[in-house]
Amino acid sequence: MTEFDADTLDAQTQYKLLIGSITPRPIALVTTLGSHGPNAAPFSFFNGIGSDPAMVMFSVGARGGSAKDTIANILEIPEFVVHIVSDAIKEKMNVCAIDYPRGVNEIAEAGFTALPSKKVRPPRIAEAPVAFECRLLQLLELGRAPYQVVIGEVVYFHYHEGIVDEKFHVDVGKIDPIGRLAGRGGYTRITDRFEMAHRPFRNGAFAAPREQVEPGSGKMRDISPRAVPPFPAVTK
Ligand SMILES: Cc1cc2nc3c(=O)[nH]c(=O)nc-3n(C[C@H](O)[C@H](O)[C@H](O)COP(=O)(O)O)c2cc1C
Repeated sequence: MTEFDADTLDAQTQYKLLIGSITPRPIALVTTLGSHGPNAAPFSFFNGIGSDPAMVMFSVGARGGSAKDTIANILEIPEFVVHIVSDAIKEKMNVCAIDYPRGVNEIAEAGFTALPSKKVRPPRIAEAPVAFECRLLQLLELGRAPYQVVIGEVVYFHYHEGIVDEKFHVDVGKIDPIGRLAGRGGYTRITDRFEMAHRPFRNGAFAAPREQVEPGSGKMRDISPRAVPPFPAVTK
């Protein structure tokens, strides 16, 4: 076992341990608007955190002791759009990560197309397969750096055609998201996927699985037998 007492580690070391261990991380490409114009930047300290209402969070570190443009803008206009980063837009996303001075419009610098949002003022990015228009719920300042944890309510969902079916099932293969690995520009795709059926346990016994997963029956159903242990006999 390799182990560390956090009290003995500096912030940079703890950062390395965190980002090397929590992988892959989804990437939010966030657009905001402020008095200096629109802004776009990626954040991988990002996730969904609830669904009533739909809520997302991302966390922004300081840059040289002052707020990054995303935070400066959210303090002016407490609205933003979170875009899921697909393989097709990864290089443009990377341009948005450049530490441009405030006032540089990364949406234009990256060659993205800005579209008006429906319910918030910041623009959204046409090329992103998924865009969540959000209103700020809470801004939490945490830690010594400090980090600004942005929590938003999703007020409008956008998807490219064909990603969501009539039952609201989302085809993640059509989103084709990339995930962030540790430093030095590490990323991953979701080209190796499997499903593991949930075994419901009710009233002291295993119930029949809701849905039998058929290996080889489709892209998302294509699970390898090694990934799924056989179901035990159902006892009633
Ligand atoms: C994939 C990726 C993920 C990133 N995740 C974060 C993050 O979670 N928090 C953060 O503060 N910066 C993160 N960054 C760095 C910011 O994107 C970068 O500092 C950016 O210039 C901030 O832009 P802004 O000043 O326009 O807000 C990430 C960069 C990349 C490429």
